[in-house]
Amino acid sequence: MIVRSLRLRNFRNYENAEVHFDPGMNVLTGRNAQGKTNILESLVYLSLTRSHRISDDRKLIRHDAPFADIKCVFTDDRDRKIEAVIHPKGKTLFVYHQPVKKSSEFIGLLNVILFAPDDLRIFNDQPRDRRRMMNQEITKVSVEYLLSLNRFQNFLKERNLLLKQQRIDDLYLRILDEQMSEAEEYIIRERKKFVDMINLHIGKFYYALSSDNTDLKVVYKCALEEDITKENLIRKHEESRKKDLEYRVTNFGIHHEDILFMMNDRNLVQTASQGQKRMALLAFKLSLMKYIEAKTRKKPVLLLDDVLSELDTEKQKRLLKLVSEPYQCLITATELPEFIRHIPMKQFRVENGSITEITGGI
Ligand SMILES: Nc1ncnc2c1ncn2[C@@H]1O[C@H](COP(=O)(O)OP(=O)(O)OP(=O)(O)O)[C@@H](O)[C@H]1O
Ligand SMILES: [Mg+2]
Repeated sequence: MIVRSLRLRNFRNYENAEVHFDPGMNVLTGRNAQGKTNILESLVYLSLTRSHRISDDRKLIRHDAPFADIKCVFTDDRDRKIEAVIHPKGKTLFVYHQPVKKSSEFIGLLNVILFAPDDLRIFNDQPRDRRRMMNQEITKVSVEYLLSLNRFQNFLKERNLLLKQQRIDDLYLRILDEQMSEAEEYIIRERKKFVDMINLHIGKFYYALSSDNTDLKVVYKCALEEDITKENLIRKHEESRKKDLEYRVTNFGIHHEDILFMMNDRNLVQTASQGQKRMALLAFKLSLMKYIEAKTRKKPVLLLDDVLSELDTEKQKRLLKLVSEPYQCLITATELPEFIRHIPMKQFRVENGSITEITGGI
């Protein structure tokens, strides 16, 4: 898919800005705190209906403005227009100017993959954060996954409430186990497919970026070691019931799963250098692009926030070579590396909440 235009009104430090992107490479340069990341953030918002930086949407509204408005025209198999209006009490989403009631009808229309330096945290984060990241990516391509996840979370909440009661209704607990297991079976299957697909690509991308022969893969720490069937899941819930009753909480389930990044079969957190971690994450993000493409038959848009400055020239060149052909890319940088000036691209200057197209290069 190709983002054609973006219009921001009262979003972060943009009062009113409109920008038209090229189908290939687009580079946004500007000094610190001018609004480069804000542009990418607005596209992430349209992709996920939330920001990647903050959870309180009100911070996205320009100071003293009543609401923020993000409008985007993009093309996949046809032209599409989507819009998000963020107001102090919530958000309203529009597709072709028609309001949509559920976020699930909106998420996944525009698909972007963002790489930001801060993403490196994911390796050291808690399993919960890695699960959230995995859920977020699978949700982009499967509404059914999002619905199963919501169902599971509701059952889990119910079950934990039940376990805290004085007298426990055994029949109700069994019903919840069954319903929960049904959702879990689907979720585990999708997570397995996700990890398998990432592993098809991540090693190759890692090598292409770094020429480093280290073996890189992702390992899915699945709650269930046996065959993935509803019956096996129900049995596991039953087996953990004694412990559940003792601790008054659900101990077994997909809410304890994790994905690990392994380098030469060791957890990357303990062994990789900072540079290797950065390359591994870039390789993972590029594999995500492939995953989304395979699932949706549409190419996502790649957003690279401030990535080039962290790489040496050789790696910058390799990265741009890998991505500039197949994908539309939006890249932010405080300064443009010398070699990049010879690559065909559209350039923009970002200054204090305004975006201007640079004609004829810098
Ligand atoms: N709600 C808001 N209203 C007005 N201005 C805001 C709001 N939220 C953030 N800003 C401003 O946006 C600017 C930061 O924008 P952004 O994060 O996009 O910078 P950047 O160009 O990516 O900088 P860097 O190169 O340091 O990453 C800051 O000047 C900040 O004060
Ligand atoms: Mg920034």
